[in-house]
Amino acid sequence: MSDADPESAAAGFARIAAGRLAEARWTLAAAAVAIAGVTFAAGGSWLVAIAAIAAVACVAALTPWRTRAMRLAEATAVRSPIDRLSALRLAAAVSDPLVVFDRSATVVQANPAAEAVFGSLRGVDLRLRFRAPEMQELIRQTLDDATHPAPVDYVERAPIERLFRVAASPVGDGTGLFVLVFRDQSEARRIDRMRADFIANASHELRTPLASIAGFIETLRGPARNDPKAQARFLEIMQAQTERMARLIDDLLSLSRLEMKPLAAPGQSADLVEVIAGVADTLTHLAAEAGVVVERNLPAEPVLAAGSRDELTQVFENLLENAIKYGRSGGRVVVSVARAPAQAAGGRPQVEASVRDFGPGISEEHIPRVTERFYRVDAESSRAQKGTGLGLAIVKHILTRYGGRLSIASQPGHGAAFTVHLPAA
Ligand SMILES: Nc1ncnc2c1ncn2[C@@H]1O[C@H](COP(=O)(O)OP(=O)(O)O)[C@@H](O)[C@H]1O
Ligand SMILES: [Mg+2]
Repeated sequence: MSDADPESAAAGFARIAAGRLAEARWTLAAAAVAIAGVTFAAGGSWLVAIAAIAAVACVAALTPWRTRAMRLAEATAVRSPIDRLSALRLAAAVSDPLVVFDRSATVVQANPAAEAVFGSLRGVDLRLRFRAPEMQELIRQTLDDATHPAPVDYVERAPIERLFRVAASPVGDGTGLFVLVFRDQSEARRIDRMRADFIANASHELRTPLASIAGFIETLRGPARNDPKAQARFLEIMQAQTERMARLIDDLLSLSRLEMKPLAAPGQSADLVEVIAGVADTLTHLAAEAGVVVERNLPAEPVLAAGSRDELTQVFENLLENAIKYGRSGGRVVVSVARAPAQAAGGRPQVEASVRDFGPGISEEHIPRVTERFYRVDAESSRAQKGTGLGLAIVKHILTRYGGRLSIASQPGHGAAFTVHLPAA
């Protein structure tokens, strides 16, 4: 595609000169009258006057001023850049892979996104490059009917597996060209899978206690009908199972409420010292039951952090409860709060609060995963401890809302330390 003008240089110059003369016609006429007047007044001849007028006209024709047509063309060009847009530039600006092919299914053009995913395609027969049956069918339909066939899903396996929704259509009317557009669906599929996994996990977690309750109801109505001792024991188990279901539903609701809230309600702050002391008070009973001493390493003055008091309370309840439950063998848990050491220039001041236990700790491979929903290192022990597997997911979610994060350090056999990092308020 070229913008070159086919006319010769001489013809081009003549056209420009004529344009300039036409543009300056009134000025030239006035100059001619003036020159004639002056020449006659001075007693000069006709020839002198004509020579002078011709000289002025030559200057006008050679002077490179812009003609009205040129000014108009410039103004139009500024107003509609779309007129100068080439199809190639447009294709290059599209971030989805895009391939133009002809009636023989040969690629005539592929944009950079397509080359990045599929390698060099120009001149390649699409039917040989995309052998999946759904792609063969899509190409065949496009070439046969030249209509808009329904998009198909296509998986490109190398270098990494990616799922594309591919649409094909003819380019314009009777150009003999067709276009394939690949839309990457991998991220959408990953989110779909996560959602499906989450629902499967949540249903499974609810189903287990429900099945147990249903079983005991049957026993109570049948074999244990006349056994008050067994009845009392079964009712107790049933109550524990309903409590487990209630905890799970509470945690699920907590997560869903958090997800619906906007990110970071600005201006909220809470005193971490007060929050943690309050949580430690609430869990005194649990700690005593587990034989764990909670040591408070808290400053006397308040340490303000970004976050709502209720949500930060939920964070430390989860962390301290975990430390007491899973780290009980260590016999003690230390909670501490401190301002973080001075940040690099420009960084916001941070505060840190940690909950450290001296129990079995968490081995390295599990650390990055314990904040995932329903992830437990040992599902049986978590259930025995009345866990839902959602606590740390809730903690992470809350901290993210306030621009904070959770870091976990552990030396297996020597305990674990969960540290909350939050912007200072
Ligand atoms: N202090 C800790 N020491 C050892 N393991 C821990 C500790 N805190 C959490 N974990 C592990 O992380 C998992 C996820 O924790 P959490 O999300 O709070 O779920 P839950 O406590 O309901 O099981 C727990 O099941 C446990 O395996
Ligand atoms: Mg927990």
